[in-house]
Amino acid sequence: MSPRERSRADRGKDRSADSGRQRSSGRSVLLTHLYDPEEVERARSEARAKAERRKARVALPPDPGPKEAGSPALRGKTEPLLSLFFSCHGGTGCTTLVASLATLLARAERSVCVVDCDLQFGDTLMALNLKHRFTLAQALEALPSLDPETLHYRLPRHESGVCVLSQAGDVDGLGQIEPSTFIELLALLRESFDHVLVDGVRDFSDYALAVLDVADDVLLVGTQEVPAVRGMAMRLDVFEQLGYEVQWLDVVINRYATKNGVSLGAIANSLEVETRFVIADDAPVARRALNDGVPLVDMAPTSRATRDMQDLVQVLYGVHPPRRKGLFGRIFGGSA
Ligand SMILES: Nc1ncnc2c1ncn2[C@@H]1O[C@H](COP(=O)(O)OP(=O)(O)OP(=O)(O)O)[C@@H](O)[C@H]1O
Ligand SMILES: [Mg+2]
Repeated sequence: MSPRERSRADRGKDRSADSGRQRSSGRSVLLTHLYDPEEVERARSEARAKAERRKARVALPPDPGPKEAGSPALRGKTEPLLSLFFSCHGGTGCTTLVASLATLLARAERSVCVVDCDLQFGDTLMALNLKHRFTLAQALEALPSLDPETLHYRLPRHESGVCVLSQAGDVDGLGQIEPSTFIELLALLRESFDHVLVDGVRDFSDYALAVLDVADDVLLVGTQEVPAVRGMAMRLDVFEQLGYEVQWLDVVINRYATKNGVSLGAIANSLEVETRFVIADDAPVARRALNDGVPLVDMAPTSRATRDMQDLVQVLYGVHPPRRKGLFGRIFGGSA
């Protein structure tokens, strides 16, 4: 019996006792989702349908790419996509990653909004050097009369075009954020943007479950540290209990270095899932990027980490972000 099978079996034994306890306290939507057979069945069939849609999408050949080198990618026909970046351990670099991926998409002429689900301490705004203009709580309050144009106009916007919806740093409105209205807001965001990228999710809170219900992609972000790998294994277990086929989830190993930490082979063995994307470790650039509020891909456009992020965007969203050349390429590479 593998460690994951064993933990699953142990959990099964405790399930009914826990279920009654949690239900009577009325605290956990997660456990309601887990133990209500109808809910589980609904989640399973939705997850299966999503998996099919996603398989069809990512199997499509990506855009042919820019006609002329250096021009933005051709805007292909695209359905709006909502991607949840699920951090499996503290300090995986999730915010750095999301801010950069959003910037790459925006520079490829996709409209993008990043939603920061870390309602108290999220730092997406800081990562893009933006200030609060229109908070999550304000957006929810205005929801009945909010339309896509107004939303675009009111949200703080990075010079790349990336908009950010966050509540962090403003505790006043926290109490007004209800998961049920949050779902409605997510629906409006999908209508308003080509891409919605969700950062700041680390657990299966009500807000996280609201996002999961509507997400098209779920990326589990971890690192090669042992606690992070354990964190990914635990979360994969919970995803399975919720009815998600783990093959539907993408594992991203951020801050990846061949010589450090747990190898990709060992990670695959322990998760029973292959890593889909790796983003190279580049601590000095990542630190400067966060300190200056500049996306890593702008701070170091030709770095290995940036190229890895460009690859992710190409595979997942079918866009070719315009690649900038290094000094050598600019001097010796001709006009292409
Ligand atoms: N590709 C990278 N290589 C090296 N260090 C990185 C990379 N990306 C981010 N970091 C570093 O990781 C640390 C955490 O970054 P960040 O704030 O983006 O993550 P986070 O959002 O807190 O992650 P989590 O949500 O998992 O807690 C920072 O010190 C940052 O400089
Ligand atoms: Mg963060």
